Amino acid sequence: MTKHRIAFLNGSLRKDSLHKRLGLAITAATAGRLDIVAIEIGDLPLYNQDKDGDAAPPQYAAFREAIGGCDGLLFGSPEYNRGITGALKNAIDVGSRPYGKSVYSKKPAAVFSGSPGLTGGFGSNHALRQACVFLDVPVMQQPEAYWGMLSDQKIAADGTISDEMLGKFVAGFAHAFADWVDLIAAGRAKLAENPA
Ligand code: FNR
Repeated sequence: MTKHRIAFLNGSLRKDSLHKRLGLAITAATAGRLDIVAIEIGDLPLYNQDKDGDAAPPQYAAFREAIGGCDGLLFGSPEYNRGITGALKNAIDVGSRPYGKSVYSKKPAAVFSGSPGLTGGFGSNHALRQACVFLDVPVMQQPEAYWGMLSDQKIAADGTISDEMLGKFVAGFAHAFADWVDLIAAGRAKLAENPA
């Protein structure tokens, strides 16, 4: 089976980000199946439609190329004020333009969110899923991942999870995502063989 390359986009720019740690845990759990690479979003200037085309900030081309070179998308989506973070929204907007040239289109994706609080980032998770509908990004439906009550104690900086229940949930999510990527890739290959 092909090892698909996956772009990991983390909505948090924080050095000690829990989502970064969860991304590392998912990367480790799927190491034999997926090649997950973290794509930087913190250096992208705020999107301005006036600068589509030649006036675009130089960081945009590198970002779009990096996403374009991947077969799928893994989103870590922290919740800021019940929505997705500004950094992630900006990355979504940058990759979605110029019009008709979105680099996200049709790439299989998964969204996870977490929070030190109880609700586990449900609001941001679903706000991002809503954007994925418009972006034509097929998002894994189950398992949903709203990991509440997260802490540095439960998940170390290298992604090692000490909480047994969380560890099992994250590993299950990771493998379901690898299955999802394989499924979409297989479907696409079949369609290419037998176009309608
Ligand atoms: C938060 N946080 C938060 N948590 C939550 O469950 N719902 C929310 O609406 C918010 N809002 C919010 C706004 C802002 C500006 C900050 C800085 C934080 C807490 C947030 O979930 C927590 O900081 C996470 O740890 C962020 O993820 P990372 O940075 O650890 O990956």
